[in-house]
Amino acid sequence: MTVSLTINGRKRSIEAEADMPLLWALRDDAGLKGTKFGCGVGVCGACTVLVDGVAIRSCSVSVGDVGTARIVTIEGLAGDGDHPLQKAWIAEQVPQCGYCQPGMIMAAAALIAETPRPSDTDINEQITNVCRCGTYPRIRRAIHRAAAEMAKMPGSASA
Ligand code: FES
Repeated sequence: MTVSLTINGRKRSIEAEADMPLLWALRDDAGLKGTKFGCGVGVCGACTVLVDGVAIRSCSVSVGDVGTARIVTIEGLAGDGDHPLQKAWIAEQVPQCGYCQPGMIMAAAALIAETPRPSDTDINEQITNVCRCGTYPRIRRAIHRAAAEMAKMPGSASA
């Protein structure tokens, strides 16, 4: 069947079974390799993307269930890779092997959208993605840095 998806603001039609994981469509059909395959069973979070602003594990959602929702991957977070979260990730030198980091950043984007100035407890509770390198302290610092920057931006609640 033909499935229509809206990915990073662009409509794409792919040929797929309705139960194919969204992650397959993103990586193999749309060629967006920033979203990673880790566990494949919805646990690790390497495959995290936003669907209508909500962080989801794309390995565990089928293309047929996404419908007309807006999908955002790490490639679509900002035009030039210059989203405050991406800049904070660089400033805090977060990545070690880097494999889980796109998913971490997408989870962080959803968290900040919901909770603009998250506490460490918010981060620990809301971001359940796994980093086998153990970069969690730097991830927390980068989220606080990005949240502070985003709070200064026009249109933010505290600007
Ligand atoms: Fe989707 Fe691990 S690959 S949660």
